[in-house]
Amino acid sequence: MATMAVAAGSEITFKNLLTAYAGESNACVRYKAFAERADADGLAGVASLFRAAARTEQIHANMQARVIRQLGGDATIKLDPPLVKNTLENLKLALAEESYEVQSMYPNFWGEASAHINATAARSFLFSMEAERTLLGLYNEAIALLEAEDRYSWIGAEQEFHVCAVCGHTAKTQPGENCPTCYYPADRFERIR
Ligand SMILES: [Fe+2]
Ligand SMILES: [Fe+2]
Repeated sequence: MATMAVAAGSEITFKNLLTAYAGESNACVRYKAFAERADADGLAGVASLFRAAARTEQIHANMQARVIRQLGGDATIKLDPPLVKNTLENLKLALAEESYEVQSMYPNFWGEASAHINATAARSFLFSMEAERTLLGLYNEAIALLEAEDRYSWIGAEQEFHVCAVCGHTAKTQPGENCPTCYYPADRFERIR
């Protein structure tokens, strides 16, 4: 991943963009692998959730790559091979990672970008943070159902997820008329199974 001289005041935000881009790119690969494992574990609904989450992370990675390029940087990265465990463990790992992003990483990155009036970077962090929050809720729900061994719930059968193509907001049902985070028309959300 190339680093370079960026405008004064944007150095930390530029570094944060590279960190977020690497994190989201790796999360995309990891969630695709988790989806395969969930299918193998007979949890088709969780597999759908991981496929939707992989798309969410891809949307974030693309968004951050665009801002990196706008700042004159190079968004290339070497992906780590994903470590895959059983589906409950994978869900808990995903939950822990998204919790960190929502509670610590993105609020810090957003604050830094906002303080230096880097509006496009700030928006990419804010959108990512809010979308990760929707994943967090879905992971919590899936973990509770799996721990209760409720395989007749949505975790056991292929499930449609609605993903905002702009910010990555992810939900089991189409949200109202517009995306609650970025106001993109909800009927244009991607549907992922
Ligand atoms: Fe993420
Ligand atoms: Fe959105």
